Amino acid sequence: MADAETLPRTPPQILGPFYPFMHTPTDSGDLTNGGKAQGTVLYLSGRILTDDGQPIVNARVEIWQANANGRYAHPNDTTTQPLDPGFNGFAVTHTDSQGRYAFKTIRPRAYEVAPTRWRPAHIHFCVDSSSERLVTQMYFKGDQYNESDSWLNSASRKDLLIVDPAPATGKEAGAQAVTFDVVMMRA
Ligand SMILES: [Fe+2]
Repeated sequence: MADAETLPRTPPQILGPFYPFMHTPTDSGDLTNGGKAQGTVLYLSGRILTDDGQPIVNARVEIWQANANGRYAHPNDTTTQPLDPGFNGFAVTHTDSQGRYAFKTIRPRAYEVAPTRWRPAHIHFCVDSSSERLVTQMYFKGDQYNESDSWLNSASRKDLLIVDPAPATGKEAGAQAVTFDVVMMRA
């Protein structure tokens, strides 16, 4: 029998300066606090897979992100953009028997990191399986800063890190949905 197809591994990205070490991630799956958060609701889901296409069961999936104003609830973020008390930008879950995870969040905004440098909108991921820890970032198709971002452009396959949200069917008006699969090393 031929070997199973090898999927391209998800490229790593930097942890960044805004990892919310001082907080405990919510395990509710809902970063919007029941829809209280500002911004476009985003249903974010996907699978965590090995590079031979097998689901990774009980992988720990952690995300953190800026709010709809491009602001992190973190002391290193000294910009003047407002915090959103309705938004919880740090969450964790574990994959099910099919390797699936899901979060309800909002689309983050791009943010300025220097007078002439902006980061495109992105969501940070840290995924732990039994074989490795993968730290990466997920970006959005069409963001005006995708072409100039040094971190995104440092990825071996930037296309694997860029998603294209679509209207979420059967959800609240204006909500979007996106799938982001993560491919990791085999155990
Ligand atoms: Fe970031």
